[in-house]
Amino acid sequence: MAYTFPDHFLWGGATAANQLEGAYNQDGKGLSVQDVTPKGGVAQPGSSSPLITDEPTADNLKLIGIDFYNRYKEDIALFAEMGFKVFRLSIAWTRIFPNGDDQEPNEAGLAFYDKVFDELAKYGIEPLVTLSHYETPLNLARKYNGWANRDLIGFYERYVRTVFTRYKNKVKYWLTFNEVNSVLHAPFMSGGIMTDPEKLSKQDLYQAVHHELVASALATKVGHEINPDFKIGCMVLAMPAYPMTANPLDQLAVREFENQNYLFSDLHARGKYPNYIKRYFKENDIEIQFADGDKELMLENTVDFISFSYYMSVAEAHNPEAYESGRGNIMGGIANPYLEASEWGWQIDPIGLRLVLNDFYDRYQLPLFIVENGLGAKDVLIQGPDGPTVEDDYRIDYLQKHLVQVGEALQDGVEVLGYTTWGPIDLVSASTAELSKRYGFIYVDRNDDGSGSLERYKKKSFNWYKKVIETKGASLYD
Ligand code: BG6
Repeated sequence: MAYTFPDHFLWGGATAANQLEGAYNQDGKGLSVQDVTPKGGVAQPGSSSPLITDEPTADNLKLIGIDFYNRYKEDIALFAEMGFKVFRLSIAWTRIFPNGDDQEPNEAGLAFYDKVFDELAKYGIEPLVTLSHYETPLNLARKYNGWANRDLIGFYERYVRTVFTRYKNKVKYWLTFNEVNSVLHAPFMSGGIMTDPEKLSKQDLYQAVHHELVASALATKVGHEINPDFKIGCMVLAMPAYPMTANPLDQLAVREFENQNYLFSDLHARGKYPNYIKRYFKENDIEIQFADGDKELMLENTVDFISFSYYMSVAEAHNPEAYESGRGNIMGGIANPYLEASEWGWQIDPIGLRLVLNDFYDRYQLPLFIVENGLGAKDVLIQGPDGPTVEDDYRIDYLQKHLVQVGEALQDGVEVLGYTTWGPIDLVSASTAELSKRYGFIYVDRNDDGSGSLERYKKKSFNWYKKVIETKGASLYD
Protein backbone atom coordinates (compact mmCIF):
# COMPACT_ATOMS: atom_id res chain seq x y z
CA MET A 1 0.00 0.00 0.00
CA ALA A 2 1.32 3.45 -0.92
CA TYR A 3 2.78 5.41 1.93
CA THR A 4 4.21 8.90 2.33
CA PHE A 5 7.25 9.33 4.57
CA PRO A 6 7.17 12.04 7.28
CA ASP A 7 8.01 15.63 6.23
CA HIS A 8 11.02 15.77 8.56
CA PHE A 9 12.53 12.50 7.24
CA LEU A 10 16.20 13.07 6.35
CA TRP A 11 16.91 11.67 2.88
CA GLY A 12 20.47 11.58 1.65
CA GLY A 13 23.70 9.70 1.06
CA ALA A 14 26.71 8.51 3.07
CA THR A 15 30.47 8.50 2.47
CA ALA A 16 33.78 8.27 4.32
CA ALA A 17 36.80 10.53 3.87
CA ASN A 18 39.26 7.72 3.11
CA GLN A 19 37.06 6.36 0.34
CA LEU A 20 36.42 9.53 -1.61
CA GLU A 21 38.58 12.50 -0.65
CA GLY A 22 41.90 11.37 -2.14
CA ALA A 23 44.53 14.10 -1.67
CA TYR A 24 46.17 11.86 0.91
CA ASN A 25 49.17 14.14 1.34
CA GLN A 26 47.64 17.53 0.61
CA ASP A 27 47.63 20.40 3.13
CA GLY A 28 49.44 18.59 5.89
CA LYS A 29 47.33 15.43 6.10
CA GLY A 30 49.02 12.55 7.93
CA LEU A 31 48.73 8.87 7.01
CA SER A 32 45.88 6.75 8.31
CA VAL A 33 45.73 2.97 8.42
CA GLN A 34 43.96 3.10 5.04
CA ASP A 35 46.90 4.74 3.33
CA VAL A 36 49.09 1.67 3.73
CA THR A 37 46.45 -0.79 2.62
CA PRO A 38 47.60 -2.33 -0.63
CA LYS A 39 45.23 -2.99 -3.49
CA GLY A 40 43.01 -5.97 -2.99
CA GLY A 41 41.25 -5.70 0.27
CA VAL A 42 41.10 -5.15 3.96
CA ALA A 43 44.63 -5.03 5.26
CA GLN A 44 45.68 -6.89 8.34
CA PRO A 45 49.17 -7.15 9.71
CA GLY A 46 50.45 -10.58 10.58
CA SER A 47 50.05 -13.89 8.90
CA SER A 48 46.59 -13.40 7.43
CA SER A 49 47.28 -11.43 4.29
CA PRO A 50 47.08 -9.01 2.64
CA LEU A 51 49.74 -7.32 4.69
CA ILE A 52 49.96 -3.63 5.16
CA THR A 53 52.71 -1.87 3.26
CA ASP A 54 55.48 0.16 4.87
CA GLU A 55 54.64 3.23 2.84
CA PRO A 56 51.74 4.26 0.63
CA THR A 57 51.93 2.46 -2.71
CA ALA A 58 50.85 3.80 -6.08
CA ASP A 59 48.21 1.12 -6.56
CA ASN A 60 46.28 2.06 -3.43
CA LEU A 61 43.16 3.73 -4.76
CA LYS A 62 42.29 5.16 -1.35
CA LEU A 63 45.17 7.60 -1.73
CA ILE A 64 43.49 9.25 -4.68
CA GLY A 65 39.82 8.35 -4.08
CA ILE A 66 37.59 10.31 -6.44
CA ASP A 67 39.31 13.58 -5.51
CA PHE A 68 36.34 14.91 -3.54
CA TYR A 69 38.90 17.02 -1.69
CA ASN A 70 39.27 19.21 -4.75
CA ARG A 71 35.85 18.64 -6.33
CA TYR A 72 33.51 18.83 -3.36
CA LYS A 73 31.60 21.82 -4.76
CA GLU A 74 30.65 20.01 -7.94
CA ASP A 75 29.66 16.88 -6.00
CA ILE A 76 27.61 18.70 -3.39
CA ALA A 77 25.78 20.57 -6.17
CA LEU A 78 24.77 17.17 -7.60
CA PHE A 79 23.57 15.96 -4.18
CA ALA A 80 21.55 19.17 -3.89
CA GLU A 81 20.06 18.57 -7.32
CA MET A 82 18.80 15.20 -6.07
CA GLY A 83 17.19 17.06 -3.17
CA PHE A 84 19.38 15.68 -0.36
CA LYS A 85 18.36 16.79 3.11
CA VAL A 86 21.40 15.21 4.75
CA PHE A 87 24.90 14.22 3.71
CA ARG A 88 26.96 11.80 5.80
CA LEU A 89 30.71 12.27 5.64
CA SER A 90 33.60 11.54 7.94
CA ILE A 91 36.26 13.91 9.11
CA ALA A 92 39.66 12.40 8.41
CA TRP A 93 41.26 12.44 11.86
CA THR A 94 44.67 12.72 10.13
CA ARG A 95 43.74 15.99 8.44
CA ILE A 96 43.19 17.47 11.88
CA PHE A 97 45.88 15.64 13.89
CA PRO A 98 48.26 14.19 11.27
CA ASN A 99 49.98 11.86 13.74
CA GLY A 100 47.11 11.47 16.15
CA ASP A 101 49.26 12.41 19.14
CA ASP A 102 50.09 15.97 18.04
CA GLN A 103 49.49 18.73 20.55
CA GLU A 104 48.08 21.23 18.07
CA PRO A 105 45.60 20.71 15.23
CA ASN A 106 46.38 21.33 11.58
CA GLU A 107 44.56 24.53 10.59
CA ALA A 108 44.46 23.63 6.89
CA GLY A 109 42.56 20.44 7.67
CA LEU A 110 40.05 22.28 9.84
CA ALA A 111 39.59 24.91 7.13
CA PHE A 112 38.76 22.23 4.55
CA TYR A 113 35.77 20.93 6.52
CA ASP A 114 34.62 24.50 7.20
CA LYS A 115 34.38 24.92 3.44
CA VAL A 116 32.52 21.64 3.01
CA PHE A 117 30.00 22.46 5.76
CA ASP A 118 29.49 25.95 4.33
CA GLU A 119 28.85 24.48 0.91
CA LEU A 120 26.28 22.07 2.35
CA ALA A 121 24.62 24.90 4.26
CA LYS A 122 24.24 26.83 0.99
CA TYR A 123 21.80 24.13 -0.14
CA GLY A 124 20.21 23.50 3.24
CA ILE A 125 21.82 20.05 3.50
CA GLU A 126 22.37 18.86 7.07
CA PRO A 127 25.82 17.28 7.64
CA LEU A 128 25.95 14.00 9.53
CA VAL A 129 29.55 13.53 10.64
CA THR A 130 31.35 10.31 11.53
CA LEU A 131 34.27 11.11 13.79
CA SER A 132 36.19 7.94 13.05
CA HIS A 133 35.45 5.87 9.95
CA TYR A 134 38.21 3.23 9.74
CA GLU A 135 40.73 6.06 9.67
CA THR A 136 42.87 5.64 12.80
CA PRO A 137 46.09 7.64 12.33
CA LEU A 138 48.82 5.22 11.25
CA ASN A 139 51.17 6.62 13.86
CA LEU A 140 48.70 5.63 16.60
CA ALA A 141 48.60 2.12 15.17
CA ARG A 142 52.36 1.76 14.92
CA LYS A 143 53.38 3.51 18.12
CA TYR A 144 50.57 2.52 20.47
CA ASN A 145 48.97 -0.56 18.83
CA GLY A 146 45.78 1.40 18.20
CA TRP A 147 42.78 0.97 20.44
CA ALA A 148 44.43 -1.87 22.32
CA ASN A 149 46.13 0.97 24.19
CA ARG A 150 44.15 3.11 26.62
CA ASP A 151 46.13 6.19 25.60
CA LEU A 152 44.01 6.33 22.45
CA ILE A 153 41.10 7.62 24.54
CA GLY A 154 43.03 10.80 25.32
CA PHE A 155 44.11 11.36 21.72
CA TYR A 156 40.56 10.80 20.49
CA GLU A 157 39.22 13.17 23.13
CA ARG A 158 41.58 15.92 21.98
CA TYR A 159 40.50 15.38 18.39
CA VAL A 160 36.75 15.33 19.06
CA ARG A 161 36.95 18.34 21.38
CA THR A 162 38.70 20.24 18.60
CA VAL A 163 36.15 19.45 15.93
CA PHE A 164 33.12 19.80 18.21
CA THR A 165 34.32 23.25 19.21
CA ARG A 166 35.23 24.32 15.69
CA TYR A 167 31.99 23.15 14.06
CA LYS A 168 29.58 23.61 16.95
CA ASN A 169 27.36 25.91 14.92
CA LYS A 170 27.67 23.99 11.65
CA VAL A 171 27.05 20.36 12.57
CA LYS A 172 24.29 18.93 14.72
CA TYR A 173 24.40 15.15 14.03
CA TRP A 174 27.51 13.18 15.02
CA LEU A 175 28.50 9.49 15.03
CA THR A 176 31.35 8.42 17.27
CA PHE A 177 32.77 5.34 15.47
CA ASN A 178 31.77 3.75 12.18
CA GLU A 179 30.51 0.18 12.62
CA VAL A 180 31.95 0.08 16.11
CA ASN A 181 31.28 -3.68 16.41
CA SER A 182 33.52 -4.45 13.41
CA VAL A 183 36.66 -4.24 15.56
CA LEU A 184 35.94 -7.82 16.68
CA HIS A 185 36.34 -8.96 13.07
CA ALA A 186 38.77 -6.46 11.52
CA PRO A 187 41.01 -5.30 14.39
CA PHE A 188 43.48 -3.42 12.21
CA MET A 189 41.12 -1.65 9.82
CA SER A 190 38.59 -0.84 12.50
CA GLY A 191 40.80 -0.42 15.56
CA GLY A 192 44.33 0.22 14.28
CA ILE A 193 45.49 -2.87 16.21
CA MET A 194 48.75 -4.13 14.71
CA THR A 195 48.91 -7.48 16.51
CA ASP A 196 48.56 -10.47 14.22
CA PRO A 197 44.91 -11.48 14.71
CA GLU A 198 45.95 -15.06 15.29
CA LYS A 199 48.00 -13.91 18.25
CA LEU A 200 45.55 -11.31 19.49
CA SER A 201 44.00 -12.63 22.70
CA LYS A 202 40.32 -12.22 23.44
CA GLN A 203 41.39 -10.36 26.56
CA ASP A 204 43.25 -7.73 24.52
CA LEU A 205 40.55 -7.53 21.88
CA TYR A 206 37.75 -6.91 24.37
CA GLN A 207 39.92 -4.50 26.29
CA ALA A 208 40.29 -2.54 23.03
CA VAL A 209 36.51 -2.65 22.67
CA HIS A 210 36.23 -1.23 26.17
CA HIS A 211 38.56 1.63 25.28
CA GLU A 212 36.44 2.52 22.26
CA LEU A 213 33.24 2.35 24.29
CA VAL A 214 34.68 4.61 26.97
CA ALA A 215 35.91 7.00 24.26
CA SER A 216 32.47 7.02 22.68
CA ALA A 217 30.81 7.88 26.00
CA LEU A 218 33.41 10.56 26.60
CA ALA A 219 32.75 12.07 23.16
CA THR A 220 29.03 12.09 23.93
CA LYS A 221 29.71 13.89 27.21
CA VAL A 222 32.11 16.44 25.73
CA GLY A 223 29.86 17.05 22.73
CA HIS A 224 26.83 17.78 24.87
CA GLU A 225 28.86 20.13 27.04
CA ILE A 226 30.04 22.05 23.98
CA ASN A 227 26.59 22.22 22.44
CA PRO A 228 23.61 20.75 24.29
CA ASP A 229 21.70 20.65 20.99
CA PHE A 230 24.10 18.15 19.46
CA LYS A 231 22.56 14.80 18.58
CA ILE A 232 25.22 12.17 19.11
CA GLY A 233 24.72 8.59 18.04
CA CYS A 234 26.55 5.30 17.87
CA MET A 235 26.91 3.44 14.58
CA VAL A 236 26.79 -0.34 14.37
CA LEU A 237 26.99 -2.83 11.55
CA ALA A 238 23.55 -4.45 11.65
CA MET A 239 23.26 -7.97 10.39
CA PRO A 240 20.18 -9.93 11.39
CA ALA A 241 20.54 -13.69 11.50
CA TYR A 242 18.00 -16.43 10.83
CA PRO A 243 18.20 -19.98 12.16
CA MET A 244 18.86 -22.53 9.42
CA THR A 245 16.24 -24.85 10.90
CA ALA A 246 13.63 -24.88 13.64
CA ASN A 247 16.08 -26.78 15.84
CA PRO A 248 16.32 -24.76 19.08
CA LEU A 249 20.09 -25.19 18.93
CA ASP A 250 20.11 -23.17 15.73
CA GLN A 251 18.11 -20.43 17.43
CA LEU A 252 20.69 -20.44 20.23
CA ALA A 253 23.43 -20.01 17.61
CA VAL A 254 21.52 -17.02 16.26
CA ARG A 255 21.29 -15.56 19.74
CA GLU A 256 25.03 -15.94 20.28
CA PHE A 257 25.80 -14.30 16.95
CA GLU A 258 23.41 -11.42 17.60
CA ASN A 259 24.66 -10.85 21.14
CA GLN A 260 28.13 -10.11 19.76
CA ASN A 261 26.52 -7.20 17.91
CA TYR A 262 23.95 -6.18 20.51
CA LEU A 263 26.76 -5.77 23.01
CA PHE A 264 27.72 -2.55 21.25
CA SER A 265 24.28 -1.01 20.92
CA ASP A 266 23.32 -2.17 24.43
CA LEU A 267 26.34 -0.41 25.88
CA HIS A 268 25.71 2.78 23.94
CA ALA A 269 22.00 2.87 24.73
CA ARG A 270 21.97 1.51 28.28
CA GLY A 271 25.43 2.48 29.45
CA LYS A 272 26.41 -0.83 31.02
CA TYR A 273 27.68 -4.25 30.12
CA PRO A 274 24.78 -6.67 29.62
CA ASN A 275 24.67 -9.84 31.71
CA TYR A 276 24.99 -12.19 28.72
CA ILE A 277 28.43 -10.78 27.95
CA LYS A 278 29.54 -11.15 31.55
CA ARG A 279 29.00 -14.86 31.21
CA TYR A 280 30.93 -14.90 27.92
CA PHE A 281 33.78 -12.99 29.58
CA LYS A 282 33.85 -15.43 32.47
CA GLU A 283 33.92 -18.48 30.23
CA ASN A 284 36.71 -17.00 28.13
CA ASP A 285 38.86 -15.70 31.00
CA ILE A 286 38.32 -12.11 29.98
CA GLU A 287 38.56 -9.52 32.70
CA ILE A 288 37.99 -5.99 31.49
CA GLN A 289 40.19 -3.44 33.22
CA PHE A 290 38.07 -0.46 34.24
CA ALA A 291 39.70 2.83 35.18
CA ASP A 292 38.13 4.93 37.91
CA GLY A 293 35.07 6.64 36.54
CA ASP A 294 34.58 4.43 33.44
CA LYS A 295 31.36 2.89 34.75
CA GLU A 296 29.79 6.22 35.67
CA LEU A 297 30.92 7.83 32.42
CA MET A 298 29.26 5.14 30.33
CA LEU A 299 26.10 5.09 32.42
CA GLU A 300 25.66 8.86 32.36
CA ASN A 301 26.45 9.44 28.70
CA THR A 302 24.28 7.23 26.60
CA VAL A 303 23.53 8.12 22.99
CA ASP A 304 20.73 10.26 21.58
CA PHE A 305 20.04 7.86 18.73
CA ILE A 306 21.18 4.58 17.24
CA SER A 307 22.47 4.50 13.70
CA PHE A 308 23.45 1.49 11.67
CA SER A 309 24.53 0.17 8.30
CA TYR A 310 22.41 -2.49 6.70
CA TYR A 311 23.32 -4.43 3.58
CA MET A 312 22.43 -8.04 4.20
CA SER A 313 21.39 -10.77 6.59
CA VAL A 314 22.92 -14.18 7.30
CA ALA A 315 21.79 -17.58 8.50
CA GLU A 316 23.30 -19.34 11.51
CA ALA A 317 23.29 -22.92 12.79
CA HIS A 318 24.79 -24.87 15.67
CA ASN A 319 26.61 -26.99 13.05
CA PRO A 320 27.74 -24.42 10.47
CA GLU A 321 30.20 -26.86 8.91
CA ALA A 322 27.22 -28.74 7.50
CA TYR A 323 26.34 -25.83 5.21
CA GLU A 324 27.83 -23.66 2.52
CA SER A 325 29.18 -20.50 4.10
CA GLY A 326 28.09 -17.15 2.73
CA ARG A 327 30.28 -14.17 1.93
CA GLY A 328 29.50 -10.89 3.48
CA ASN A 329 30.19 -7.50 4.89
CA ILE A 330 33.00 -8.12 7.43
CA MET A 331 31.06 -10.86 9.24
CA GLY A 332 30.28 -14.14 7.57
CA GLY A 333 27.49 -16.61 8.21
CA ILE A 334 25.74 -19.34 6.28
CA ALA A 335 24.27 -18.81 2.80
CA ASN A 336 20.50 -18.50 3.06
CA PRO A 337 18.79 -20.58 0.35
CA TYR A 338 15.83 -18.18 0.27
CA LEU A 339 17.89 -15.14 -0.70
CA GLU A 340 19.72 -13.95 -3.78
CA ALA A 341 23.13 -12.39 -3.48
CA SER A 342 24.97 -9.49 -5.07
CA GLU A 343 27.95 -10.03 -7.39
CA TRP A 344 30.10 -9.94 -4.25
CA GLY A 345 28.02 -12.59 -2.52
CA TRP A 346 26.19 -10.26 -0.12
CA GLN A 347 22.70 -11.68 0.43
CA ILE A 348 19.93 -9.29 -0.45
CA ASP A 349 17.17 -9.14 2.15
CA PRO A 350 14.91 -6.06 2.24
CA ILE A 351 12.63 -7.58 4.91
CA GLY A 352 15.67 -7.96 7.14
CA LEU A 353 15.83 -4.17 7.29
CA ARG A 354 12.28 -3.96 8.64
CA LEU A 355 13.15 -6.59 11.23
CA VAL A 356 16.30 -4.75 12.32
CA LEU A 357 14.40 -1.49 12.68
CA ASN A 358 11.72 -3.13 14.79
CA ASP A 359 14.23 -5.04 16.92
CA PHE A 360 16.32 -1.97 17.72
CA TYR A 361 13.27 0.13 18.45
CA ASP A 362 11.65 -2.47 20.69
CA ARG A 363 14.91 -2.85 22.55
CA TYR A 364 15.78 0.81 23.12
CA GLN A 365 12.87 3.10 22.16
CA LEU A 366 15.46 5.48 20.76
CA PRO A 367 15.27 7.17 17.36
CA LEU A 368 17.05 5.20 14.63
CA PHE A 369 19.01 6.39 11.62
CA ILE A 370 19.81 4.11 8.66
CA VAL A 371 23.16 5.56 7.66
CA GLU A 372 24.25 3.01 5.06
CA ASN A 373 22.39 0.79 2.63
CA GLY A 374 23.05 0.09 -1.00
CA LEU A 375 24.14 -2.25 -3.73
CA GLY A 376 27.72 -2.58 -4.94
CA ALA A 377 27.63 -3.58 -8.60
CA LYS A 378 29.65 -3.45 -11.79
CA ASP A 379 28.18 -0.67 -13.92
CA VAL A 380 28.47 -0.31 -17.66
CA LEU A 381 28.71 3.21 -19.00
CA ILE A 382 26.65 3.70 -22.16
CA GLN A 383 25.90 6.65 -24.40
CA GLY A 384 22.46 8.06 -23.50
CA PRO A 385 20.51 10.90 -25.14
CA ASP A 386 22.02 13.41 -22.68
CA GLY A 387 25.54 11.98 -22.56
CA PRO A 388 27.17 9.00 -20.86
CA THR A 389 24.99 7.21 -18.33
CA VAL A 390 24.35 3.85 -16.65
CA GLU A 391 21.07 1.91 -16.83
CA ASP A 392 21.27 0.72 -13.24
CA ASP A 393 17.83 -0.82 -12.82
CA TYR A 394 19.32 -3.43 -10.47
CA ARG A 395 20.34 -0.65 -8.05
CA ILE A 396 16.94 1.01 -8.28
CA ASP A 397 15.31 -2.34 -7.58
CA TYR A 398 17.50 -2.94 -4.50
CA LEU A 399 16.92 0.52 -3.04
CA GLN A 400 13.21 0.57 -3.84
CA LYS A 401 12.63 -2.73 -2.06
CA HIS A 402 14.60 -1.64 1.00
CA LEU A 403 12.88 1.73 1.20
CA VAL A 404 9.47 0.09 1.01
CA GLN A 405 10.49 -1.91 4.09
CA VAL A 406 11.57 1.30 5.84
CA GLY A 407 8.07 2.56 5.10
CA GLU A 408 6.66 -0.62 6.64
CA ALA A 409 8.73 -0.09 9.77
CA LEU A 410 7.56 3.52 10.03
CA GLN A 411 4.00 2.23 9.86
CA ASP A 412 4.91 -0.33 12.53
CA GLY A 413 5.56 2.71 14.71
CA VAL A 414 9.35 2.77 14.57
CA GLU A 415 10.92 6.21 14.87
CA VAL A 416 13.35 6.65 11.96
CA LEU A 417 15.23 9.93 11.60
CA GLY A 418 16.44 9.32 8.09
CA TYR A 419 18.10 7.18 5.46
CA THR A 420 21.41 7.71 3.71
CA THR A 421 22.35 5.37 0.87
CA TRP A 422 25.94 4.20 0.86
CA GLY A 423 28.09 5.88 -1.74
CA PRO A 424 25.68 8.30 -3.50
CA ILE A 425 28.65 8.94 -5.76
CA ASP A 426 30.97 6.08 -6.78
CA LEU A 427 33.87 5.73 -4.37
CA VAL A 428 36.55 3.23 -3.40
CA SER A 429 35.21 0.09 -1.77
CA ALA A 430 36.26 -0.48 1.83
CA SER A 431 36.61 -4.25 1.73
CA THR A 432 38.14 -4.78 -1.71
CA ALA A 433 39.65 -1.34 -2.43
CA GLU A 434 38.18 -1.34 -5.95
CA LEU A 435 36.35 1.37 -7.83
CA SER A 436 34.53 -1.16 -9.97
CA LYS A 437 32.33 -2.06 -7.00
CA ARG A 438 30.08 0.92 -7.53
CA TYR A 439 27.24 2.16 -5.32
CA GLY A 440 26.53 5.62 -6.68
CA PHE A 441 23.74 7.54 -8.35
CA ILE A 442 26.65 9.40 -9.90
CA TYR A 443 29.19 7.55 -12.01
CA VAL A 444 32.80 8.60 -11.61
CA ASP A 445 35.12 7.96 -14.52
CA ARG A 446 37.92 6.30 -12.62
CA ASN A 447 39.03 2.69 -13.12
CA ASP A 448 40.60 0.15 -10.81
CA ASP A 449 44.04 1.00 -12.18
CA GLY A 450 43.54 4.67 -11.25
CA SER A 451 43.06 5.83 -14.84
CA GLY A 452 40.06 7.91 -15.97
CA SER A 453 39.02 11.52 -16.45
CA LEU A 454 37.22 11.80 -13.08
CA GLU A 455 34.20 13.18 -14.93
CA ARG A 456 30.91 12.69 -13.10
CA TYR A 457 27.86 11.29 -14.98
CA LYS A 458 24.30 10.83 -13.74
CA LYS A 459 23.06 7.25 -13.73
CA LYS A 460 19.40 6.32 -14.24
CA SER A 461 19.09 5.98 -10.45
CA PHE A 462 19.94 9.69 -10.07
CA ASN A 463 16.55 10.87 -11.31
CA TRP A 464 14.85 7.94 -9.65
CA TYR A 465 16.16 8.94 -6.18
CA LYS A 466 15.43 12.60 -6.90
CA LYS A 467 11.79 11.70 -7.48
CA VAL A 468 11.64 9.51 -4.39
CA ILE A 469 12.83 12.45 -2.29
CA GLU A 470 10.56 14.94 -4.07
CA THR A 471 7.48 12.78 -3.49
CA LYS A 472 8.53 11.85 0.08
CA GLY A 473 8.64 8.24 -0.89
CA ALA A 474 5.28 8.10 -2.64
CA SER A 475 6.91 7.29 -6.01
CA LEU A 476 8.31 4.08 -4.52
CA TYR A 477 4.85 2.60 -5.02
CA ASP A 478 4.33 3.67 -8.67
C1 BG6 B 1 30.45 -0.56 5.40
C2 BG6 B 1 31.46 0.52 5.62
O1 BG6 B 1 30.87 -1.71 6.05
O2 BG6 B 1 30.23 -1.02 4.12
C3 BG6 B 1 31.79 1.36 4.39
O3 BG6 B 1 31.07 1.38 6.67
C4 BG6 B 1 31.85 0.44 3.20
O4 BG6 B 1 32.98 2.05 4.63
C5 BG6 B 1 30.50 -0.20 3.00
O5 BG6 B 1 32.28 1.07 2.03
C6 BG6 B 1 30.40 -1.08 1.78
O6 BG6 B 1 31.42 -2.00 1.78
P1 BG6 B 1 32.40 -2.17 0.55
O7 BG6 B 1 33.44 -3.09 1.00
O8 BG6 B 1 31.56 -2.70 -0.56
O9 BG6 B 1 32.92 -0.80 0.24
